[in-house]
Amino acid sequence: MDYKDLVRLAKSAMENAYVPYSKFRVGAALLTTDGLVFSGCNIENASFGGTNCAERTALFKAISEGSRKFSKIAIISDSKDYTYPCGICRQVLSEWGLDMEIIVANSNEEFRVHKLRDILPYAFTNENMEGRYISE
Ligand code: THU
Repeated sequence: MDYKDLVRLAKSAMENAYVPYSKFRVGAALLTTDGLVFSGCNIENASFGGTNCAERTALFKAISEGSRKFSKIAIISDSKDYTYPCGICRQVLSEWGLDMEIIVANSNEEFRVHKLRDILPYAFTNENMEGRYISE
């Protein structure tokens, strides 16, 4: 699965975005280390804080289906600018490793690739808690 394919899958997930409030469609496609893809869209709510971003939709689908090792996530929106994950999504993704590649695309399917560790410097992880909660 190359970057381009993952961007295309993110774009097709974007079609399912539920965005009556922002009208801003986002799609994400998350690749596991064993080659599975989980996609997601943003899902808004009349109580705005209940909104879920596309990245977390894809991630939570994957976790709930038993996957925990990820290599890449592609993110796209209907904007001509590159769509970067929000701070909450960066933090939530970091739980599963800072080496994950983040592919940010624009509506033309042009993309850039970053490591999660580079877009979330000084990340707060379990190690910052001296590993006291997760010890393995
Ligand atoms: N959104 C995402 O789904 N992912 C991002 O990376 C940025 C923001 C959504 C949340 C909300 O539905 C809309 O975009 C506007 O913030």
